[in-house]
Amino acid sequence: MCPGWWLWPLVAVCAADVFRDEAERIMQDTPVIDGHNDLPWQLLKMFNNQLQDERANLSTLTGTHTNIPKLRAGFVGGQFWSAYVPCDTQNKDAVRRTLEQMDVIHRMCEMYPETFLCVTTSAGIRQAFQEGRVASLIGVEGGHSIDSSLGVLRALYHLGMRYLTLTHNCNTPWADNWLVDSGSDDAQSHGLSVFGQSVLREMNRLGVMIDLAHVSVATMKAALQLSAAPVIFSHSSAYSLCANRRNVPDDVLQLVNQTGSLVMVNFYNDYVSCTEDADLSQVADHLDYIRKVAGAGAVGFGGDFDGVTRLPTGLEDVSKYPDLIAELLRRNWTEAEVRGALADNLLRVFEAVEKVSNETLQAPEEEPIPLDQLGSSCRTQYGYSEASTLYHQPGALLAALIFVLRLP
Ligand SMILES: *[C@@H]1O[C@H](CO)[C@@H](O)[C@H](O)[C@H]1NC(C)=O
Ligand SMILES: *[C@@H]1O[C@H](CO)[C@@H](O)[C@H](O)[C@H]1NC(C)=O
Ligand SMILES: *[C@@H]1O[C@H](CO)[C@@H](O)[C@H](O)[C@H]1NC(C)=O
Ligand SMILES: *[C@@H]1O[C@H](CO)[C@@H](O)[C@H](O)[C@H]1NC(C)=O
Ligand SMILES: [Zn+2]
Repeated sequence: MCPGWWLWPLVAVCAADVFRDEAERIMQDTPVIDGHNDLPWQLLKMFNNQLQDERANLSTLTGTHTNIPKLRAGFVGGQFWSAYVPCDTQNKDAVRRTLEQMDVIHRMCEMYPETFLCVTTSAGIRQAFQEGRVASLIGVEGGHSIDSSLGVLRALYHLGMRYLTLTHNCNTPWADNWLVDSGSDDAQSHGLSVFGQSVLREMNRLGVMIDLAHVSVATMKAALQLSAAPVIFSHSSAYSLCANRRNVPDDVLQLVNQTGSLVMVNFYNDYVSCTEDADLSQVADHLDYIRKVAGAGAVGFGGDFDGVTRLPTGLEDVSKYPDLIAELLRRNWTEAEVRGALADNLLRVFEAVEKVSNETLQAPEEEPIPLDQLGSSCRTQYGYSEASTLYHQPGALLAALIFVLRLP
């Protein structure tokens, strides 16, 4: 019930509450699936992954954007927890640290079973929704985490990885990162190398979502072209509204539309407004814009909570999601569009990825990265040295040639 004209100044407040109530009603059965949250990285930095430290209790944890009460207040029903390891681990202990971040996510689910349900399928997400638990999935951030190994890629899949961000803020030997576009890094693969293409085919075959946050535009286009399944940007915003190379340009948004892919909007002030300050309404502008250019089916949320230092006024932590949904309703988004952005779009993409995997008849990719592309001196060369004895020794080649020439 809204007041009469003599209470006109109150109407705005009243309307705000109407939209907020509507947001909560919708989120009761379609909670938000967020594409990227760095709480696991905070657990490493703050507690060296020791969850039994009483300060690490996720019900009372302070100083983070994420804890259990905030997740509940925010109607977060699905979360891709980031198994992130920084670029300086590349060619060092990246795989070990990735395994440890995946382990801490599994331990979160075990320690708080009333809150989290670790799942690896779209059906698992739906089950967690039904049970009122936060569907917890693992996104591995940074292609350097597989150490240029298809075997490691497959092993991480078996441990629950369901998306892999092809790069973080560094090139891998097989894919270029966004800093190539800003001029701070040199182009290396000019998109994806031959081995990078094999990584993508294997991700399609396994059913791991391809995440293009952090990659160069050439890598985005190569991946969108090659992938047999839709892809995601787990935490990226619109380049036209903020010209930061971490954001997605319009021509790529067209490809996102054509492939049924998904852009989950990042809330980091620097990617929202290109300044240190931003507010909730500017985040809604990015959502509006991506909806306009790529379609309502292409929009999602990837807040980057606990991975960034500055967040918009009104979106300070994960509890604020209903306020953002209220703003979209105020902007005349339909209920179906809102449900799409909250969860249905991600579920559609995930199911498409699972379908491609289910139906593929391809054999596993086996061709290793060429030794000269692997770089770094700390690795052994087992396998490679055998192969080089067999095929690449000039003497052996010569002998084979002589043998061939002697045949009639
Ligand atoms: C966390 O703290 C709450 C409230 O004090 C307590 O009930 C709960 O048992 C603690 N959980 C763990 C895993 O220590
Ligand atoms: C792509 O654009 C078309 C035409 O605007 C629209 O009908 C379709 O729903 C869009 N796709 C997605 C995934 O939103
Ligand atoms: C939303 O729709 C209403 C009623 O059709 C209209 O008056 C209002 O201007 C629209 N608001 C926006 C932001 O488009
Ligand atoms: C993929 O296959 C699994 C196992 O047979 C099945 O449970 C699931 O429904 C399939 N998913 C899709 C999207 O086809
Ligand atoms: Zn990131």
